[in-house]
Amino acid sequence: MTEPTAAPADEPRLSAKTMTELHEIAARYPQARSALLPMLHLVQSDAGCVTTAGIEACAEILHLTAAEVAAVATFYTMYKRRPIGDYHVGVCTNTLCAIMGGDVIFERLKDHLDVGNDETSEDGKITLEHVECNAACDYAPVVMVNWEFFDNQTPESAVQLVDTLRSGEEVQATRGARICTWREAERVLAGFPDNRADEGPAAGPASLAGLELARREGWRAPSGNGIPGAKPSGPVEAAERADTRRAEAETKVDESEAETKGGPDA
Ligand code: FES
Repeated sequence: MTEPTAAPADEPRLSAKTMTELHEIAARYPQARSALLPMLHLVQSDAGCVTTAGIEACAEILHLTAAEVAAVATFYTMYKRRPIGDYHVGVCTNTLCAIMGGDVIFERLKDHLDVGNDETSEDGKITLEHVECNAACDYAPVVMVNWEFFDNQTPESAVQLVDTLRSGEEVQATRGARICTWREAERVLAGFPDNRADEGPAAGPASLAGLELARREGWRAPSGNGIPGAKPSGPVEAAERADTRRAEAETKVDESEAETKGGPDA
C-alpha cells in the first residue's frame, strides 16, 4: 500500500457540513478510530466515492496515516474509489443466484445499460456491479439497489427495475424501504437515519420457514455440538436455566433459614 498523493486539483472538496459531521461521528466512539467505517460512508455520501480529500480528512481527524485509511477503503467492497451513479445496482452472481438466473440477469442488464461490470450508464443513473452472496439465497436470484433487496428477479423484471429507477418513479424494495439515491443511502450508513428503517417487511415466509417448522415440530437448539459441558443456547433453554438458578437460590435461602431457626444444637 502506497501513501496516497495529494488530492487532485479537480477533485471536489468535502463540504463544511460534512467536515463537521465527520468530527461528530468520531466523537461517538470511545476509541475514535472505530469511527472510520461510518466516516468513509459519509465521505461517499458527499463526494460520490472515497476521494483522496476524504481519505486525508478521515486520517487527520482520527490521527491515522492516509495509508491506513486507504487500506481500509480499498479492502471493503462497499467503498468505491470511482463515482457511483444515482443508483447502485448489484446483481448477485454467487453460486445459488447464478444457477437460478443471476448470470443471465447480469448479462441482460449489461446489454440494456450498455455498460460493463462496475461501470455507470451514460445518463449517470445506474452503476452496475456483480456482487457476491447477499445472504438472501432463499429469494434467489436477488438484485440489490443501494443494498435493498429485490427478490426472485428475472431478466425482464430487472430491466423494468432499472428503467423505473431511471424514470424517477418511486420504487419500493421487496423487503425494505422506498429506494433513495445512493448518496442518501450512504448517509444512512454513516449513522444519520432517514426514518425509513421500518418501511416494508423485514423477513418473508421463505426466511421464516425453518423457524416455523421447528416450532411446529417442537425442535430445540442443539446442545453445544457435542462439546462436553456446553449448554444449549436458545432463548427457551436460557429461560429454563434462569428458572433453575432461581429455584436453587430459593432452596438455599430456605435451608439457611431453617438452620438459623433451629440453632446449631437443633
Ligand atoms: S447466492 Fe445470491 S444471495 Fe446468496
